[in-house]
Amino acid sequence: MRRKLAAGNWKMNGGGAELTEVEALLATHTNPKVDVLLCPPATLLHRMGQTIGNSAIATGGQDCHQNENGAHTGDISAAMVADAGARFVLTGHSERRTDHGESDACIRDKTRAAWDAGLTAVVCIGETLAQREAQNTLDILIGQLAGSIPDNATGENLVVAYEPVWAIGTGKVASLDQIGEVHDFIRMRLERRFGEGVGRSVRILYGGSVKPDNASDIFDVSNVDGALVGGASLKAADFGAIISALEASI
Ligand code: 13P
Repeated sequence: MRRKLAAGNWKMNGGGAELTEVEALLATHTNPKVDVLLCPPATLLHRMGQTIGNSAIATGGQDCHQNENGAHTGDISAAMVADAGARFVLTGHSERRTDHGESDACIRDKTRAAWDAGLTAVVCIGETLAQREAQNTLDILIGQLAGSIPDNATGENLVVAYEPVWAIGTGKVASLDQIGEVHDFIRMRLERRFGEGVGRSVRILYGGSVKPDNASDIFDVSNVDGALVGGASLKAADFGAIISALEASI
């Protein structure tokens, strides 16, 4: 059985003062029945890990460089993310694809680097509004899945996050039918490429305006194994409510 995963992506938000939110989350969710992951900015990764201590919340980076080390000012390697205490790293978030021109090939290299450093990669994919309106969604996802995920994926080293770009930070959530269609499709593609055993063990998260008031419905959709949450992961009350909704869906 796939273990459910509630993941928070703080994006470029949060400093030391916001660690009180993590403390509040730990106080209400001491022993979560689902996996919980927080991906703070790189500057906060180590400190957040210290705040969490031995509790059942994992930390993750939001990005890593594809190379092991070298002259790449401003970047951090996957090994550095791991050294800061993280067990996960996001790769291919649409904001990285857009802001930094990351291609599928680049994301594939980053994902491989993450695996080499012993991290689980949360590979993000998703179509733009124009692509959906042109009815190209599934073709776009085929390309992103094939291009961004290296061979040798397993249920341990890979999580896929489906985040329709038009639903991110907009308050527009994909409909339950749209989510179900895409998640079933991703499952089928993973099984086809990696075999049934692996394909069935990889967790598929939905992301895009997940909030406490829509989480339960989303978690009931087939092949939704959890969520990748942006804005609503910044506040312990909101993220805690989403974690509780995921626990209730088991
Ligand atoms: P929002 O939940 O703020 O829409 O962000 C989703 C996201 O991009 C998570 O990675």
